[in-house]
Amino acid sequence: MVGKFITIEGCDGSGKTTQSQLLEKYLRVKQVPCLFTREPGGTEISEQIRKIILNKENENMNWRTEALLYAASRAQLVGEKIVPALHKGLHVVCDRYIDSTLAYQGYGRGLSLEELKRINYFAAGGLKPDVTFLLDIDPEETFQRKARQEKDRLEKEKIEFHQKVRYGYLELARLEPERFKIIKATQSIEEIHREIVAFLEEVLF
Ligand code: TYD
Repeated sequence: MVGKFITIEGCDGSGKTTQSQLLEKYLRVKQVPCLFTREPGGTEISEQIRKIILNKENENMNWRTEALLYAASRAQLVGEKIVPALHKGLHVVCDRYIDSTLAYQGYGRGLSLEELKRINYFAAGGLKPDVTFLLDIDPEETFQRKARQEKDRLEKEKIEFHQKVRYGYLELARLEPERFKIIKATQSIEEIHREIVAFLEEVLF
């Protein structure tokens, strides 16, 4: 593959989406050919799966069902968009990827990490990111900031769940330090953006 595969990860409300949008603008101005996408979603079929996963009425969803739906959404996105883009030489930036499943369904829900890795290896055909930015923030802080906004099914989970997810992410980063770049998400939006760009300039140019 010619293009680089870059993922952005972090707990709910860590500012990933804002950073992804800022990065997209920056790379567009620089005329760097790239594809920006997000999970769960990113293709018509994956967006349909996303609606099932995040539907507030599906509160009794089995955790394995949930894990498989994330993997199914991912399989479609990887096959339909990410791999073809990388082959064409585009860099791909994805808001969430397999590490989200390992952090949320693995460390958060307590499902087996080995099993999750296996179904996701199958779903993604073994595709791994070249670089993963982890926007790290204490969920306590995020919840205080977001208190009055409407929260979807997953955001209503107890704070302890999000603490486990955060711990999971930090573990994943510790195990693969060459792939992960941890960024303190308590910094200002501009500071985070500058840190991401400075790192990517070395990787992409
Ligand atoms: P979304 O509204 O996209 O949240 P965010 O802007 O924080 O990415 O909802 C995605 C939710 O799905 C988020 O709570 C994380 C969760 N998720 C998993 O639990 N496992 C996964 O594999 C993925 C991709 C997301």
